[in-house]
Amino acid sequence: MNNSTENRYRFDGKVVVVTGAGNGLGRSHAKLFASLGARVVANDLGVNRDGSAADSSAIRQSPVDDTVAEITAAGGLAVANYDSVEVGERIIEQAMDQFGQIDVVVNNAGIIRDKSFHKMELEDWQLVQRVHLEGAYRVTRAAWPHLRDQGAGKVLFTASASGLYGNFGQANYSAAKAGLFGLTRTLAVEGAAKNIQCNIIAPMLDSRMLEGLMPDEYRKQMKPELVSPLAAFLCHDECLENGSLYEVGAGWYAKVRWQRSDGFGMPPAEEVSVADIAENWTAINNFEQAHFPKDTLEAGSIMLQNLNR
Ligand SMILES: NC(=O)c1ccc[n+]([C@@H]2O[C@H](COP(=O)([O-])OP(=O)(O)OC[C@H]3O[C@@H](n4cnc5c(N)ncnc54)[C@H](O)[C@@H]3O)[C@@H](O)[C@H]2O)c1
Repeated sequence: MNNSTENRYRFDGKVVVVTGAGNGLGRSHAKLFASLGARVVANDLGVNRDGSAADSSAIRQSPVDDTVAEITAAGGLAVANYDSVEVGERIIEQAMDQFGQIDVVVNNAGIIRDKSFHKMELEDWQLVQRVHLEGAYRVTRAAWPHLRDQGAGKVLFTASASGLYGNFGQANYSAAKAGLFGLTRTLAVEGAAKNIQCNIIAPMLDSRMLEGLMPDEYRKQMKPELVSPLAAFLCHDECLENGSLYEVGAGWYAKVRWQRSDGFGMPPAEEVSVADIAENWTAINNFEQAHFPKDTLEAGSIMLQNLNR
């Protein structure tokens, strides 16, 4: 492990909002940012894994109090926020009231309501969209004018392998997580002129979310603390990455991008039959000469070129 440049990657003077900071990955993020000098707004509603209310007999208001206590004990500065990301603007309001600025938004709060699609009720679908997709929208939308005004900002979203590849029983969750990827890509384009960079991670780590989904012997080695350094680097001024997606977990870090086959073009002036598609199916699916389009312009340009065929 390399600590020699640790002083370089600090967040002194910065205000960082981390949602879902009461458990798992969010707590690890909040602690790391605070240990690197940031003032942290640690948000958490304190719900169960499925978004239902936590045990009402619990004395403390939210597990995020523990996060704040741990940060304070280590000499850091953090305040707790107990709002749902469903009313994310309140979290940003508190950050502005208490610290007068906001530099980094880490959208991390999440729940799962796993059910096979034929058993998935509308409520399971809607709550997952509201927390992951709309919650991240509301927090980020409220922070956006402040980031634009100061001409700098970092936003990090949290996806999942489920959103990239699909996963049995997670239609609601994978749709929301894939939606966050689209949101990241568009905000990266829109924020660029104002020096706002937006990226997204698809993590894998030991938390209650993985309970029952992975053998304990693997799970306990997949510490959230192995994920947070990548999150922090993506949110540091020195990192100019924008619109990128990373898979991260178990001490492994990798960038993910779209890949498109070389494709097959037909003269557009001619009629195309279903049989034409079927006959060229192999070529359409051939990745031997793959392309990696970076944006919609690059993606669309090959179609425009085909007009000249
Ligand atoms: N654990 C994994 O392997 C894994 C894999 C892929 C993606 N993720 C994603 O990583 C993020 C963190 O998950 P985790 O594994 O740490 O889970 P976790 O359950 O330990 O933590 C999530 C936290 O979000 C909070 N939360 C839920 N709904 C909220 C709301 N409406 N407002 C504010 N806070 C709310 C919860 O109270 C909880 O403390 C999530 O977005 C999750 O989807 C995790």
